[in-house]
Amino acid sequence: MIKDSSRFESTYLKEKAIIEKKLSGLLKNNNPKSLYEPCSYILNSEGKRIRALLVLLSAQAAGGRFKDVYNAAIAVEILHNFTLIHDDIMDNADKRRGLPTLHIKYDLSTAILAGDNLIAVAYQNLLKDCKSNDRRVVEAFTKGIIEICEGQSLDKEFEVRKEVSIKEYMKMIEKKTAALAKMCCSIGSQISGGSKKEIKALEIYGLNLGIAFQLQDDMLDIVGDEKEFGKKVGGDLMEGKKTYLFLRALEKARGKDKSDLIKVIRKKGIKKNQISKYRNIYIKLGVIEEVKQLVEKYTDKALKAVNKIDNAGSLKWLAFTLLKRSK
Ligand code: IPE
Ligand code: IPE
Ligand code: MG
Ligand code: MG
Ligand code: MG
Repeated sequence: MIKDSSRFESTYLKEKAIIEKKLSGLLKNNNPKSLYEPCSYILNSEGKRIRALLVLLSAQAAGGRFKDVYNAAIAVEILHNFTLIHDDIMDNADKRRGLPTLHIKYDLSTAILAGDNLIAVAYQNLLKDCKSNDRRVVEAFTKGIIEICEGQSLDKEFEVRKEVSIKEYMKMIEKKTAALAKMCCSIGSQISGGSKKEIKALEIYGLNLGIAFQLQDDMLDIVGDEKEFGKKVGGDLMEGKKTYLFLRALEKARGKDKSDLIKVIRKKGIKKNQISKYRNIYIKLGVIEEVKQLVEKYTDKALKAVNKIDNAGSLKWLAFTLLKRSK
């Protein structure tokens, strides 16, 4: 499917290990432990490190070097981990990366503060890589955080809203997830002195990759293997999330299926023992297949965006590889 696939994969594994080593050393000696142990707990757990990778690969695609953007890569990974801590509180999630979520392992106030601290630690690291164009880089980083918060607010708002359109859902995931992927590509290419055209192309790549990523996450949330996925399967339905799968199923369903789906809205979620019933409704209505096609469509858009960029081979590999992910 893609040339040099094994070379790209070994670069990913090598860079992932470098990022992980940097992350694990970062806060090791900091005090108080009541703050830094929980921060290290999440930073050292088994993430895919995709956002850090996006910074590195975008720097490369813009003609730069990994070594000039490692701190920025660490910064976005830390920022991402902050969003996960607070997201798990907001989503009542008790499992992430195969481990108890931070607020379950510790407690709610510890989790809130660990998240707050990680935003500041993220900035601290980002600034280490800012040189001549620091203002624009910090602006992009800051805009990314604001968009995540806006997206997360819409996500919560939609849980209790009776009607949500697919267009509104797409806008919501663009903000809560794709904005961060876009920002990663933006700062990686900006720090590396990419041209305006390159920066724009990479941002479009990140945005579309991010949309595909969230659609796929929503799909894995219902058809994934819990051990592999590392999160509770069915969690979105339990929380009454208005995902693409749910909204399309609602549009397509008739009779009993329709009234079962409407019940999710009325009751603002379902019980654990009902998950398989709703999974079967999704499968029967063909919405799993539909979402897969949509993931491919947005992956295609991402690929097209970087078609004219010379050093984008690894970004293309990443987009193809994510299509097959199970976690
Ligand atoms: C989880 O992101 C949050 C979403 C936007 C769906 P990842 O699936 O990248 O989580 P980790 O970092 O690999 O655990
Ligand atoms: C991810 O949405 C968005 C952010 C973390 C900002 P989800 O709520 O779907 O992410 P997971 O599934 O908990 O990782
Ligand atoms: Mg969540
Ligand atoms: Mg969420
Ligand atoms: Mg999810």
